[in-house]
Amino acid sequence: MNNEQIMEIRKEFPFLDEEKMGRKIVYFDNGATSQKPKCVIDALSNYYSYQNANPHRGAHYLGMLATEMYEDARKKVKDFINASSVDEIVFVRNTTEALNLIAYSYALDKLKKGDEIVLSIYEHHSNLVTWQYVAQKTGAILKYVYLNEKHELDMESYKNILSEKTKLVALAGASNTVGGVIDVKEVTRLAHEVGAVVSIDAAQLSPHLRIDVKDWDVDFISFSGHKMYAPMGIGVMYCKYEILDSMVPFMYGGDMIEYVYEQTTTYAKPAAKFEAGTQNVGGAIALAAAIDFMERIGVDNIHKHELELTDYAYKKMSELDFVEIYSTPSYVRSPLIAFNIKGVHSHDVSTVLDTFDIAIRTGHHCAMPLHSHIHQNSTCRASFAVYNTFEEIDFFIEKLKEVRKVMGYGS
Ligand code: ALA
Repeated sequence: MNNEQIMEIRKEFPFLDEEKMGRKIVYFDNGATSQKPKCVIDALSNYYSYQNANPHRGAHYLGMLATEMYEDARKKVKDFINASSVDEIVFVRNTTEALNLIAYSYALDKLKKGDEIVLSIYEHHSNLVTWQYVAQKTGAILKYVYLNEKHELDMESYKNILSEKTKLVALAGASNTVGGVIDVKEVTRLAHEVGAVVSIDAAQLSPHLRIDVKDWDVDFISFSGHKMYAPMGIGVMYCKYEILDSMVPFMYGGDMIEYVYEQTTTYAKPAAKFEAGTQNVGGAIALAAAIDFMERIGVDNIHKHELELTDYAYKKMSELDFVEIYSTPSYVRSPLIAFNIKGVHSHDVSTVLDTFDIAIRTGHHCAMPLHSHIHQNSTCRASFAVYNTFEEIDFFIEKLKEVRKVMGYGS
């Protein structure tokens, strides 16, 4: 995309309206959550203004409208990830809830003592603590795949770790810290060869790369709306229908039942079986608007622009001898860079950058085992989205130099 196209896209984001914001923010914390375009905000506002009702319940105009729009959003997600059926799309709050759903409804029910769950050392806590709990409850064992010299998943170790004992492979499609992306199709093929089921945490993948569950043949995919231009509180758990249909419910209550008797209940078919209680209709509609936004630009165009930005930032940062980078140097990656400034605590880096209205994230990024593995307590992370520009990166590089000066170093 050329500069003019990026400038047009930037006009769609209210947070970039300097007059209204009273400041010019360089937002490089997209890995935590993206900003929202006006079309998404309008979709949410329209729903609550003119379309609000409880779906699947009221036989009145608004009730039917809300139901129709909610189910249209499900269809939009189905097409976005190339699923076979809308029944495979379960709306949840976020990736964390999706992974807990898989843990409670699938893993706790089906795993037993001695079964193995394969993870990577760079998993986000939501794709790690969850499986620790399953392991504690079932007697299953967690096996970790470590990184290669490029800070990416080591595929040789992955192949070696798989065995007939592997029952579940639970990997991030893209790391939220080291940035490496995995070849989901190949990872899944290898796991299926030993009879394991594959769950991909796609929280850092869905904003950037096209997901194709049919081509990848993956069993579970989880992602959040809020990292891909949609509001917080809406996410997706995809699961192959035959697996989903065999799973026990996650939460019990209204709208997930078929018949309820005094002592027993029969459940609705998926996806309703996994959506107990009043659903987040506004969130689902706004997620559909976010998908429209991404499709209008083109997911591949978004990714290409982000990769160019990341590559540019990586090169510029590598030229600074006081910067240590922990993310992969590969071009194909998630658009983020984890780093530290020598002699300066990451929180100080962030605080000083904030004085220039540059927003980055610092800390362990909910990936403590990874940070132990790379011998860091904490790192800084700059993460990019479609509205970021090369000029913003130049400004960021200039201010990284200032951080050093402010903290008492010569350069
Ligand atoms: N998981 C989010 C991040 O990586 C919050 O920042």
